[in-house]
Order: sequence, then C-alpha cells, then structure tokens
Amino acid sequence: MQADLRVAIIGAGPSGMAQLRAFEAAERAGAEVPELVCFEKQADWGGQWNYSWRTGLDARGEPVHSSMYRNLWSNGPKEALEFADYSFDEHFGKPISSYPPRPVLWDYITGRLKQTDVRRHIRFETVVRWARFDEERQQFELTAEDLRTGRTTTEWFDHVVVASGHFSYPQLPYVKGAETFPGSICHAHDFRGAEALRDRDVLIIGSSYSAEDIGSQAYKMGARSVTASYRTNPMGYDWPEGFEERPLVSRFDGSTAHFSDGTSKEFDAVIFCTGYLHKYPFLPEELGLSSPNNVYPDGLYRGVLWDQNPRLSYLGAQDQWFTFNMFDVQAWYVRDVILGRIDVPGVEERGVSIASWRERFAALETASDEIRFQADYVRDLLDLTDYPEFDIDRVVEIFLAWKADKKRDIMGYRDRVYRSVMTGTLSAVHHTPWLEELDDSLERYLHGATPEASRSNGRGPAMRTA
Ligand SMILES: Cc1cc2nc3c(=O)[nH]c(=O)nc-3n(C[C@H](O)[C@H](O)[C@H](O)COP(=O)(O)OP(=O)(O)OC[C@H]3O[C@@H](n4cnc5c(N)ncnc54)[C@H](O)[C@@H]3O)c2cc1C
Ligand SMILES: NC(=O)c1ccc[n+]([C@@H]2O[C@H](COP(=O)([O-])OP(=O)(O)OC[C@H]3O[C@@H](n4cnc5c(N)ncnc54)[C@H](OP(=O)(O)O)[C@@H]3O)[C@@H](O)[C@H]2O)c1
Repeated sequence: MQADLRVAIIGAGPSGMAQLRAFEAAERAGAEVPELVCFEKQADWGGQWNYSWRTGLDARGEPVHSSMYRNLWSNGPKEALEFADYSFDEHFGKPISSYPPRPVLWDYITGRLKQTDVRRHIRFETVVRWARFDEERQQFELTAEDLRTGRTTTEWFDHVVVASGHFSYPQLPYVKGAETFPGSICHAHDFRGAEALRDRDVLIIGSSYSAEDIGSQAYKMGARSVTASYRTNPMGYDWPEGFEERPLVSRFDGSTAHFSDGTSKEFDAVIFCTGYLHKYPFLPEELGLSSPNNVYPDGLYRGVLWDQNPRLSYLGAQDQWFTFNMFDVQAWYVRDVILGRIDVPGVEERGVSIASWRERFAALETASDEIRFQADYVRDLLDLTDYPEFDIDRVVEIFLAWKADKKRDIMGYRDRVYRSVMTGTLSAVHHTPWLEELDDSLERYLHGATPEASRSNGRGPAMRTA
C-alpha cells in the first residue's frame, strides 16, 4: 500500500540526503516504501557543502545556493555531528582530526549514500518552482523546471519534505551611507576567501558564527586589522593583536565607519555577517515557514511537521548546534509518519506540544542552555524511531568542551581532538595547525604536506618567531 504513495523531497543537501537514507534503511530491512522523487537545483548533491566559486546567479541564472568559502573548516567538532549509522572510521579507515575542512566533510556525507543506489531518486538541475495543496485530492501539486531543457512539469505528491536549507538568502540591513563606501562590500553569502584581504583593514558586521569565522579567516590570511561590530553582544574572545570588537556601526562616510560609541575608523573592506532569511519561494503563504533563526521555529510539530498540514514537513529548519545526526533523526521520524508507523495526533494535541517546547525555548538564556535544549529535542525524536541509539549526553559534553576550548584559544581550538561518541576512537592530531594550513584539499588533509601547502600566510611560525 505504501508503494502507491508519492513523496517529494525538495533539496539534496544533508537533510534531503538523510531523508533518502532513512527510506533506504527501511527498504533494506524489508519495508515497502513509497515512490521518492528528490528535486535538486544544483548539478550535484551535498547542499551547502557543494562549494561553488560563483556568487550571485549560477550558470543557469538561479540564485547560487552555497554560502561556503574555499577555506572553510568545520566550526564544531566532527564528533558532534557524526552519523550513528556510518562512522568516520568506516568512511576514512583511519582516525582523522576533529575539525576537517569542507571537502573532507563533503566526502563523508556523500560517501554514506554512494554505497546505496538512492541517487536514482534525484532529479538534478531541477528546481521546484511551486507546490500547493489541493484540499479535494488531499495531495500536493508540485511544479518543477528542468534547468537543462527549460521544460516545466507538474505532478501530484502525497507528502512533501522541504529540505531546501535556510542559510542561502542573505539578511542584509541598510547602514546609512553604505552607498558611499568605495571599497569592497558584500554579505557573507558571497564571501569566497580572504586572500584578497591581506594588508587590508576589514570590517565585519555581526557577532555570530559567520562573523567569528570570516573574521578569523581574514586574520589568518594576513589582514592588517579586523574589526567586528556587534549589535547585541560582542563575541568576547581573547582575540589576537589586530583583532578588536566595537559596538554597532551607525553610518559610513566614504571609507570611514562611525560606531555607536562615537569612535570611527577607515576600512578597505566590509563584510555583512548578518545572517539569513527563512525563505521558501516555492510555497504559498499558508505553507511557508516564517521565523527568525532559532532552535524552535513556531508552527512545526516535533520541529518537523507543518502544524497546519502535517503532510508537509521541514528538515533542518532549526538553528543548528546538532547538524547531520539531527537531520537523520528528523528524517527517520518523518519517514515513519509517512509509512504509518507513527500516528500524528490531532490539531489540539499538536498545539499543546508546540506550545510546551516553545515555552521552554523562550526561557533559554545561554548558548549552553540551547545546546541542552536541542539535545532534548533530538532525544525526543530518537526515542520514537529505530535510528541507532547514541549517547546524546556525551555529545553535549563535547559541545561544552568545544565552547571552553574556543574561550581559551579562538585561533587554536581547531587543533584540539575529541573521542568519537559512535566508535570510541580518539581523533588524530592534524599534521598542521589550522592557523598555518593553507591547502584545504582532501589530498593534503589525508596524505600530508605538499610544497604548495608550505607557502607562508604570514601568520605561521616564521612570523611568530621573527
Ligand atoms: C557558511 C556555512 C558554514 C557552515 N558550517 C557548518 C559546519 O562547519 N558544521 C556543520 O555541521 N554545519 C555547518 N553549517 C550548517 C549547514 O546548514 C548544515 O551543515 C547543512 O548543510 C544543512 O543541510 P540542509 O540539507 O538542511 O540544507 P542545505 O545544505 O542548504 O541544502 C539544501 C539543498 O536544497 C537545494 N534547493 C534549495 N531550493 C531548491 C529548490 N527550489 N528546488 C530544488 N532544490 C533546491 C539546494 O540546492 C541545496 O542543495 C554551515 C552553514 C553555512 C551557511
Ligand atoms: N563552519 C564554519 O566555520 C561556519 C562559518 C560561518 C557560518 N557557519 C554556520 O552558518 C550558519 C549561519 O551563521 P551566521 O553567523 O551567518 O548567522 P546567525 O547565526 O543567524 O547570526 C546572525 C548575526 O547577524 C547579526 N545581525 C542580524 N541583523 C543585524 C543587523 N541589522 N545589524 C547588525 N547585526 C545584525 C546578529 O546579531 P544579534 O545577536 O544582535 O541578533 C547575529 O550576530 C550557522 O549554522 C553557522 O554555524 C559555520
């Protein structure tokens, strides 16, 4: 009977891939599964992790999806995001470090699915343009365009899983006088690398992960100075010389930025690290999630099912401490709802559940509170499915240790190692400290130094001992 159902998955990033994996695992265990169609507008899978050098529009005139940059390394320990059904040991065959660069994590995420035949479900270079729910048929009518041919098709689906991510549409505030700034000015979404910032005075606006990491990249690549401007709270790390924090920039006057504390400074480059919008241009208002970036967006039962129509679900819609294993747990839950293994309660009971989580969410005060809250959320879903058990309390401990490491040494925390929650393996210390490593390739990471990699960025040991 389930085989008669049709399920559309929008996006083949880590969340959409988790959904494909969840159904594949059920099928392997003998279950009858629905027909799956995964729509992916890019030419390959991996979502944000599928790096593009392009900015603005892609080769087919679509908005570029990925906000990642050349030199991005994981900003949390890999031990916190490891899949419970596919370990790093299994993929790499040897211990690797705790903070791999982007190509290494892309290799890991895609490696799990390369062992299966789920790629056949994905229609690449096919963008979902519109999906609406037909009350009479109790189905979604979904329109997609094959970007290679320009052909548009409309099909019916019983369930739609939105896995299109929410870190692709820049939230870009206007700062008075920005139009008079003569240097380079962009949003983090369009940042691709900090090499051009060498010997430059750089202004970063924002105080979250993009601000922290893009500011650190600028420092690593030899910026003359980095100034991070915060709206609410400074990041508060013990920054190296040449890296400072100031309150919000209130206006630009040519290359001079004026800050709300009355100070000013001249800059060569400005990067807005001001976050992203939840935006689902393929959904009508009554189906589209609208929320700030937080750990419990309103309107989602158990953080995934659209309360007003539980045949629609969202994966990874939360702000993310947990990532890949949380997407897995969500995908397993959504799969089991679709397979009829889990009953969805009525609207009243759903409302009570959402209200109680939202109440807890409203009382959170610190980042550590948020981590524990998200751990409870993941545990809540894990208990309902057959996703392999893992020690969530241990993951929380790793997150807290990671935060302490950053407090101790913001430019050196990526050189620390952790033990896998899934296999007990202790990570290997990477051959080169993060601050000195300029080659982020998989080959260099796995196989060691190359002459190209040993060129200097001016922040390595040569400079420190000079
Ligand atoms: C700069 C940056 C750095 C990050 N670093 C880390 C990190 O170090 N560690 C970590 O764990 N997480 C990190 N993240 C978090 C990241 O969001 C998750 O790791 C993960 O990529 C989320 O997966 P997703 O599948 O939900 O969304 P995405 O990865 O965004 O994938 C969504 C997919 O949907 C496709 N899509 C979108 N719209 C359509 C449409 N209309 N039709 C068809 N396809 C569509 C996109 O092309 C894309 O492939 C980072 C995020 C950003 C922005
Ligand atoms: N692997 C990596 O190293 C890496 C690097 C970058 C990003 N990421 C990931 O990318 C995701 C998004 O992170 P993000 O930092 O881009 O977004 P974010 O966490 O949502 O933070 C948005 C930031 O913008 C600020 N802001 C918003 N509007 C503003 C305004 N009008 N004026 C000034 N400041 C404003 C916010 O300040 P308030 O505090 O005042 O709201 C906050 O500091 C996260 O999942 C993160 O982990 C990872």
